[in-house]
Amino acid sequence: MKKILITGGSGFLAKRVGDYIAEDPGMIVLLPTHSELDITSKDSCRKWFEDNMPDMVIHLAAISDITECEKNEGLSRSVNIQGPLNLADCFREFGCTGRFIYASSDQVYTANRTADRLNKETDTLAPVNLYGREKLEAEERVSSVLPESIAVRMDWMFDLRPGKMNYLKNLILSVKEQIPTKHALNELRAETYAYEVAVNMKTLVLSDASGGAYNFGGPAYGNSYDTAKAVYELLGEYMKMPVGDLAVPVRYESARSLAMDQSKLNSIGISFRNTVDSVRCCLEREAGDVHSFLRENGGAAWT
Ligand SMILES: NC(=O)c1ccc[n+]([C@@H]2O[C@H](COP(=O)([O-])OP(=O)(O)OC[C@H]3O[C@@H](n4cnc5c(N)ncnc54)[C@H](OP(=O)(O)O)[C@@H]3O)[C@@H](O)[C@H]2O)c1
Repeated sequence: MKKILITGGSGFLAKRVGDYIAEDPGMIVLLPTHSELDITSKDSCRKWFEDNMPDMVIHLAAISDITECEKNEGLSRSVNIQGPLNLADCFREFGCTGRFIYASSDQVYTANRTADRLNKETDTLAPVNLYGREKLEAEERVSSVLPESIAVRMDWMFDLRPGKMNYLKNLILSVKEQIPTKHALNELRAETYAYEVAVNMKTLVLSDASGGAYNFGGPAYGNSYDTAKAVYELLGEYMKMPVGDLAVPVRYESARSLAMDQSKLNSIGISFRNTVDSVRCCLEREAGDVHSFLRENGGAAWT
């Protein structure tokens, strides 16, 4: 049996990754909440490692809201930089032998002002927001403590399980209420199905891939407007509702690309679907959840 610590136990992604890995009878998933393990406290981390001795770690706890980071820089630095460092130190100190994987973000690529260039792990980076800078600093500092650790640079995730709003939930509500949404012609990015992230995260944690940063999300389908149009078409068929004018094209003052090159990830045998295919997959897997999501958000679902 292998013991795996997944931090951020009550968070969006930790629950999904935890549920998926726990299906494996060879794995024991330890999913402490913030109150059970405060990653900003070295003592709390040491005590937790002493009591539980994990073989491997998937670190997902964070201040993950970009605006929240800007509002409270002291707290976000301590959670997003000191937190992963404390865990990495304990991992080394307690002689853990498995993988150490931790969440980074496509926000490290926010300086890319083109609408077409894919971001590569080897690019020189200068994130424009604090959250992106914190994620990048954490990558640099954790990898100096644990060179074999892996930072996963993830993009915006969605599914239909209860919890915070996301890309797909926004578009489903837009179809139901027939309220248009704006999407940029000069932006390239992808959104990824959280279940697919969980499946690929398990493959990665059991892999012998070299340490470093990996782009860990789907390839872009097209620019953000074309992607939204295609997702709306899928939803229109699925919900049997009109979607003709719901995607409104806009142009940002400055182009941007958060889209991630897949070659390094593909070279270790891992791949993701593009946004449209992953929405299709989510609708197929979580059909029942579409109806409960809509019931929770304004009355009867379509039939
Ligand atoms: N969701 C996305 O689309 C997305 C995209 C790219 C990257 N990421 C990254 O992926 C990771 C997971 O994201 P997520 O969406 O699951 O985040 P989330 O839902 O905001 O969950 C973060 C978790 O961290 C916990 N936490 C905060 N401070 C803590 C501390 N001092 N000690 C221990 N736990 C603490 C929170 O617990 P409390 O609420 O109880 O404080 C919460 O459960 C994050 O690193 C995020 O930056 C997410």
